[in-house]
Amino acid sequence: MTERTSMDTAAVVEKAFLVAVDTGDNPGWTAEESLAELGSLVETAGAQVVGAVYQKRDMVHPNLYLGTGKSEELKAVKAATGFTVLVADDELSPKQQRSLEKLLDVKVLDRSGVILDIFAQRARTHEGRLQVELAQLEYQLPRLTRLWTHLSRTGGGIGTRGPGETQLETDRRVIRQRIKKMKERVDEVRRRRETAAATRDRRLLPGVAIVGYTNAGKSTLLNALVGDVVVPAEDKLFATLDPTSRRISLGDGQGVIVSDTVGFIHKLPHQLIDAFRATLEEVVRADVLLEVVDACDRHASEHRRTVQGVLDELGAGGKPRVVVYNKVDLIKAGGGRFVPPRGEPHAVSVSAALGWGLEGLRDELAAVLAELWVEVDVSLPYTAGELLARVRERGAVEFEYRDRDVRVHGRVAPSLAGELHAATRAWRRALAKSAGSAEPALDNDD
Ligand code: GTP
Repeated sequence: MTERTSMDTAAVVEKAFLVAVDTGDNPGWTAEESLAELGSLVETAGAQVVGAVYQKRDMVHPNLYLGTGKSEELKAVKAATGFTVLVADDELSPKQQRSLEKLLDVKVLDRSGVILDIFAQRARTHEGRLQVELAQLEYQLPRLTRLWTHLSRTGGGIGTRGPGETQLETDRRVIRQRIKKMKERVDEVRRRRETAAATRDRRLLPGVAIVGYTNAGKSTLLNALVGDVVVPAEDKLFATLDPTSRRISLGDGQGVIVSDTVGFIHKLPHQLIDAFRATLEEVVRADVLLEVVDACDRHASEHRRTVQGVLDELGAGGKPRVVVYNKVDLIKAGGGRFVPPRGEPHAVSVSAALGWGLEGLRDELAAVLAELWVEVDVSLPYTAGELLARVRERGAVEFEYRDRDVRVHGRVAPSLAGELHAATRAWRRALAKSAGSAEPALDNDD
């Protein structure tokens, strides 16, 4: 993509002025707080924030977002501060964006545009870049005005435009085609990833996805659990875009695959959730979630609501989870003590940075996983040694050694139960085939 709304590519640092409308329907957030977060996003994107203003209104102005008077005042603000880009805290309609651009003669962005811009700068892997580009295209499609003429040329130049179509319609059609192609490529990459060795291993071990608001300390926690720096932790929003998975052992020796995922944020553009569905599948596939909460953040409960909203949208909101209250060292340094809120069945307090509370976290995770275990009672041949060894290592089972098979009964993780049932069925089929008869009756039923 050559047409970007990027604030980082200009040689001169862009000066950004932020605007918000406080309609009162943003529970838990004041307009100042939401603007402060927008300011961090804008700075993360590489621009300098030169000021901010918000206006209380019943609803946003349909043409200008802010009221007419307030919008006019921005002309004087521009003269005084020299801002080169105006950033709105909500997603602007294409009409609002155009009217503001015309009125102020500056570039106009919105929160979604800024988040997309950060994602575009952060994406490192092929898959990450594809997903960001897809989200950008979907975001830009309704905002098309005079852009994208270069794209219509890539469609084959003269002759691509259908009869009676305007340039804009042609551009939209070209972008839709491109979106379709990008979706296919994202699917292809995902399919390839699914067959990768790491994923094969993952299916055999329970999956744990670390989720949480951006900057809560997810990467720091993964590093602490692994005991190595697998993901650089940065004091930046959305430092992690591409999922990283590692195997860790819990206290009882059980192995799990822990994945770090992209951070969530207030008003996360829905295009990103859609485009990142492949990456976020780590969350959907996980058996358990580790929800990291920055215990010192005044907005922890609002952040948790946002995280819950995104999880619900992914269909993962009801998964078993351990809530990890992080950064308790900062509370201690301030002379305080952190007490997790009541009513949370599995909650722990940790300092991922200092390694405090990790044993408790591992135990809690093991307890949640044990609740998920299922009963099995199956028979396997002696040749299934590797599987039997794993079951012995990871399950709470008893073995009964019989003439021609081993009876395994007890409780194991669901993924292991699936493997046991599959192995039993395969063995029965092999027996039936060699005997040339129907499936043999076994001493017990699986
Ligand atoms: P995103 O990639 O933006 O989603 O962030 P993240 O949730 O992965 O957070 P990350 O691990 O990058 O940490 C964010 C910042 O918090 C970094 O500056 C960390 O050093 C800091 N941090 C993480 N855990 C702790 C902790 O236990 N105590 C303190 N004091 N700082 C921490």
